[in-house]
Amino acid sequence: MYPLLFRVVLSRLDPEFAHHAGMAVIRVLGVPPFSWATRALTAPPDEQRVHALGLDFPSPFGIAAGFDKNAVGVRGLAALGFGHVEVGTITAIPQEGNPKPRLFRLIPDRAVINRMGFNNAGADAAAARLAKLRRRRPSTIIGVNIGKSRVVEVENATADYVTSATKLAPLADYLAVNVSSPNTPGLRGLQAVETLAPLLRAVKDAAGSTPLLVKIAPDLPDEEIAAIAQLAVAEGLAGIVAHNTTISRDGLKTDAAKIEAAGAGGLSGAPLRERSMEVLKVVRGAVPADFCVIAVGGVETAEDVRARLDAGATLVQGYTGFLYRGPFWGRQISRGLRSAR
Ligand code: FNR
Repeated sequence: MYPLLFRVVLSRLDPEFAHHAGMAVIRVLGVPPFSWATRALTAPPDEQRVHALGLDFPSPFGIAAGFDKNAVGVRGLAALGFGHVEVGTITAIPQEGNPKPRLFRLIPDRAVINRMGFNNAGADAAAARLAKLRRRRPSTIIGVNIGKSRVVEVENATADYVTSATKLAPLADYLAVNVSSPNTPGLRGLQAVETLAPLLRAVKDAAGSTPLLVKIAPDLPDEEIAAIAQLAVAEGLAGIVAHNTTISRDGLKTDAAKIEAAGAGGLSGAPLRERSMEVLKVVRGAVPADFCVIAVGGVETAEDVRARLDAGATLVQGYTGFLYRGPFWGRQISRGLRSAR
């Protein structure tokens, strides 16, 4: 049903419009009685619970950052069976992001290119929403992903991240520092170990007892990825989110002119699958066995999720697969994981 709907209707809509339309439906599904009916169909089986970061995750599979930038759809995403929702990226200062169009489908590759540029309503608005959400006791884990405000110079990034961490850590189950988006100038330079160490130290101080993770890019050489993983352990972080979108365009099937026309941005979806497994293995090899590794990139099926868990992922996230698989993606994964056991 969904593949037909996607082919005939959704793939013809502007991708960002389609996202907002989908989010409107998700928000409705988060409100009783719709949430009760949806949950009855999608709730992950009890045996899929994962204890990580000192928290009880209803399942190992969650929604990656960028899908719900302003924490407006958490209850609907929980009802759809996702074991956690990483909201954001949220910046200290509200911002509109890059000019549109900024989201492009590469259908033959089951991928997208985005250069959204952290469009979000800012940390104060997110804090207000999260506080309200907390009072309603959501049935999922909420991670909060924070990034640098575009107008803040890279030299002043630490203070900007600390502002967001101070406002949002008390309302988050875990906090993820995003230094890996390709769409904010200079951001990925913060991944250099000598820059990253003081940044992580300051954010960790501000985060207090909230588990802190760092989200990395897949485009770094393996030695740098291992060095960041070791740094995260040394600085007392709780985990690593591996990884963000790639700036690579290698091996794509989509027409070259279409890829060229999309322009700059991060590529996500199925083409990340192989690199994602490599990055996971590098990170897992560099950290202790009980250190939390969240694997993200190119996951579409329960078999993909199972492969990540078998390769040492503590939790798994996805985003682009949701566009191609439809609203019952979370359910497909948890049912598939059950039969793959
Ligand atoms: C993203 N991603 C992302 N990541 C992040 O840390 N902050 C963000 O704001 C965003 N925004 C965003 C927007 C769009 C449109 C996409 C497709 C992706 C990256 C995302 O969380 C994930 O790391 C990658 O997309 C790889 O996973 P998938 O999509 O291959 O499952």
